[in-house]
Amino acid sequence: MVHVNIFDTTLRDGEQSPGVNLNQLEKLEIARQLERFGVDIMEAGFPASSQGDFEAVRAIARTIKNSSVTGLARATKSDIDIAWDALKDAAEPRLHVFIATSPIHMQYKLMKTPEQVMQTAVDMVSYAKQKFTHVEWSAEDASRSELDFLVQIITKVIDAGATVINLPDTVGYTTPEEYGRMFRYIRENVPNIHKAALSCHCHDDLGMAVANSLAAIENGVTQVEGTINGIGERAGNASLEEIAVALNIRKDRYPYTTNLVLKEIKRTSDLVSRFTGMKVPGNKAVVGKNAFAHESGIHQDGVLKNALTYEIITPEMVGVQSNDLVLGKHSGRHAFKDKIEHMGFELSQDKLNEAFTAFKQLTDRKKEVTDEDLFTILIDIQTAAVDVKKYDLVAFQVQYGSANLPTATVALTTPEGIKVETARTGSGSVEALYNTLEALIKEDIYLTDFNLSSVGSGRDALAEVHVKMTVNGTNVSGRGSAQDVLEASAKAFINAVNRVFLNHTISVKEPAI
Ligand code: KIV
Ligand code: ZN
Repeated sequence: MVHVNIFDTTLRDGEQSPGVNLNQLEKLEIARQLERFGVDIMEAGFPASSQGDFEAVRAIARTIKNSSVTGLARATKSDIDIAWDALKDAAEPRLHVFIATSPIHMQYKLMKTPEQVMQTAVDMVSYAKQKFTHVEWSAEDASRSELDFLVQIITKVIDAGATVINLPDTVGYTTPEEYGRMFRYIRENVPNIHKAALSCHCHDDLGMAVANSLAAIENGVTQVEGTINGIGERAGNASLEEIAVALNIRKDRYPYTTNLVLKEIKRTSDLVSRFTGMKVPGNKAVVGKNAFAHESGIHQDGVLKNALTYEIITPEMVGVQSNDLVLGKHSGRHAFKDKIEHMGFELSQDKLNEAFTAFKQLTDRKKEVTDEDLFTILIDIQTAAVDVKKYDLVAFQVQYGSANLPTATVALTTPEGIKVETARTGSGSVEALYNTLEALIKEDIYLTDFNLSSVGSGRDALAEVHVKMTVNGTNVSGRGSAQDVLEASAKAFINAVNRVFLNHTISVKEPAI
């Protein structure tokens, strides 16, 4: 069996999805979960792209011990220096440096000749090797590059010290047969290829990212890159959970091993979906809500007689629990702690107290508290920033009647600690509430998206709201949950506004778990 390394880029390429904006605490939570999932390498961000990204990569590098942490850099000395500063404390620091190699990218984007690109690539890999032991070099848009140019440049960057050669299908253009053939050609024609590992990185513009990744593995690639839930630029990246499960279910066809812990798939997928606000479609392979639902009578009959008739993946394999009824009104602190630890949460004492209080409040209002409810409360508490100047909701009231003008009154505290209060109207309850918040918050706010959903089912289900907005010209997203839709809406609004401060000011004094 050949071993394949899993390289997760949810926090870098995934975070490049339109409207996705994770803060440092959320990135740390995802990083910890990726470590638990067993990824070999995680790309924590692009340190030179912003101060927020730099700090998040540094915090992840200092926290994660069982996966190698990497960061992206363009082929410039300053990007590489910044990446080193962010990554040098990692257990196994690793650099990912890239430059485009396709004729169209070299001519129009880089405005460089192929010779200049080759020289830059070699110089920057040599420069990076003075700092990093592990250097991955990527030929951006490799699948539309000329093969003989790839052979020449790869030979030279390996001589310069590259330890991994990644050949991305940057625009999701290639087909499985073509992509596999490219790797075969490189293996057969690059004389020093045995000194580096080959890696694939696929985008899903034509819906072939997973198939292309599997074709690459069949043609000698020993590292596969992708994201959780397939999130990423445009149509996204290859979905790692799909690759993992395909390799497992079709071992007969794919004799490869990975270090992934498949039963962590569901939690990883949930965490990424909640934090990014990118909902997993019901029919998504492996992690969609309907992936294990059997609707038609014929299918149900077959599954009852023998599950294998229609079910090739079991819910248990990917960590989907069927018995998710949980604690009730009378459950004590001990049972609560056991339960949340079982769900993968380890909270500090203060956060545990806060979570227990929130749980008790919920049991007063809701007959059955499910795992999904608990997960929602816990991720909010776990990633809540403490000791940071921000806006805090004190209280609000909304008056709505079918014949009245909806009116909201809100009280909140500003980052300076001043309590402010006012009222506004709107054509609906949410608009009245948001008009009032906008009047109180002295930032330039423009709401671009509002999405309301329920956590689980039932008339007493928790509401979850995701918003996107620009605050002082910066795109941010926000998340809020509560039993009431208006409270969830207010929380999401304030959560988004606070990100503008938090992205730059949070410093992690102690790990949240
Ligand atoms: O898709 C791509 O080409 C990339 C590179 C930066 C590796 O994400
Ligand atoms: Zn990419």
